[in-house]
Amino acid sequence: MRILVTGGAGFIGANFVHWTRRHRPDVEITVLDALTYASDGTALDPVRGDITFEQGDIADAALVDRLVAASDLVVHFAAESHNDNSLVDPHPFLQTNVIGTYTILEAVRRHDVRLHHISTDEVYGDLELDDPARFTEDTPYNPSSPYSSTKAASDLLVRAWVRSFGVKATLTNCSNNYGPYQHVEKFIPRQITNGIDGVPAKLYGEGLNVRDWIHVDDHNSAVWAVIDKGRLGETYLIGADGEKSNKEVVTAILRALGQPEDAYEHVTDRPGHDMRYAIDSTKLRTELGWAPSYADFDEGLRATVQWYRENEAWWRPMKDATEARYAAASLPA
Ligand code: NAD
Ligand code: DAU
Repeated sequence: MRILVTGGAGFIGANFVHWTRRHRPDVEITVLDALTYASDGTALDPVRGDITFEQGDIADAALVDRLVAASDLVVHFAAESHNDNSLVDPHPFLQTNVIGTYTILEAVRRHDVRLHHISTDEVYGDLELDDPARFTEDTPYNPSSPYSSTKAASDLLVRAWVRSFGVKATLTNCSNNYGPYQHVEKFIPRQITNGIDGVPAKLYGEGLNVRDWIHVDDHNSAVWAVIDKGRLGETYLIGADGEKSNKEVVTAILRALGQPEDAYEHVTDRPGHDMRYAIDSTKLRTELGWAPSYADFDEGLRATVQWYRENEAWWRPMKDATEARYAAASLPA
C-alpha cells in the first residue's frame, strides 16, 4: 500500500509515520509537508531513509494531483492547529484547513483514491463542567474559535464530497493529544519546557477548563483501525477517557519534574475559551474493537516529560521564538 501523509512532519503526523514504520513496515510512505513555523522536519530524522519527503503546500493543486495520483490512500493531517494563533491571524487557517482540504478532495475525487481525514473534537463546541454528557458522532457541530470553525468546515467539505461525488472517505475526530514531538506552543510541552527553564507554568484563567487527554500513539492506532476496518463515509470519535482539568495537568507535570506543585501562575484567559471537551468513543471500541494502550495518564505524562528532558536539541530552537510570539501577540503571557 502506498500512502500519502499530509502534515507528516508535524506532531501527530510524524508520530503516525513512526507508528506505521514500526507496525506496518510493508506500507510505502510519502510525506507532503510545507514545513511551516510548526515543523522544521527533524521529527522525521529517525525514519528519513525509509520514506519519501516532499516539501510543499496542500493548496498547490498541481503538486497534490501528482502525489495523490501515485497513492492508494491519503491520510490528511496537515492543518494550522493552534487555537491561540487563530485568534491573532485567522487567514492561514482558512487557507490551509479549508482551501487545502478542498484541494485534496478534488484530487482524490479525480483519481478515485481513498481519503482518511483527521479532525478534532473541537468541532462540537464545549460542554459545561457538571454536564454528564460527552460528545458522540451525533452531537451537532458548534465550533467556537477560528481554528475549530475551519476544522468543522473541512469536515463538512469531506462529508459533502462523499455524498455528492462518491468520494471514498472516513473521518476521525480526536481529543487532545500528548506525547513526543509536540510543538512547545501547546499546553503540555509549553509547561514542561517552562519548568526545565525555571519559569512558572502558565495557567489560563482559573485553570478549571477540562481537556480529554489521549497519548498520540493511541490516536494513531485508532486511525489505523479506521483505515483497516472503518466503514466508508463514516465518522469515528477517538478518545481514551482522559478528562483532566488544566490545573490537574500542571500539577502532574510539576510533580514529574520534581518541582513544587504550586510553581505555576494564573495568566489572562484565552478569549472564548472552551470549558470542557469529553469524548464517548463507544462506536470505535464496539464496532472496530479498538482500545487505548496508555491506560495511566500520569505514566504517559512522566514518559513525555522524560522525552522533553532528553530531547532539548529538538525543542530548544523553537522555544524562544514561541514565547516571543506569545508576548508580541499579547496572548496570555
Ligand atoms: P502540528 O501543527 O504539529 O502539525 C501540522 C503540520 O502540518 C506541520 O508539520 C505543518 O508544517 C504542516 N502544514 C501546515 N500547513 C500546511 C500546508 N498548507 N501544506 C502542507 N503542510 C502544512 O499539528 P498536530 O497537532 O500534529 O495536528 C495534526 C492534525 O490533527 C490537525 O489536522 C489537527 O486539527 C488534528 N488534531 C490535533 C489534535 C491535537 O491534540 N494536537 C487533536 C485532534 C485532532
Ligand atoms: O481537542 C483537540 C484540540 O486540542 C486540537 O484540535 C488542537 O489542534 C490542539 O491544539 C488542542 O487544542 P486546545 O486549545 O485544547 O490545546 P492547547 O494545548 O492550546 O491548550 C490546552 C488547554 O490548556 C486549554 O484549555 C488552554 C490551556 N492553556 C494553554 C496554553 C498554551 C493554558 O492554560 N496555558 C497555556 O500556556
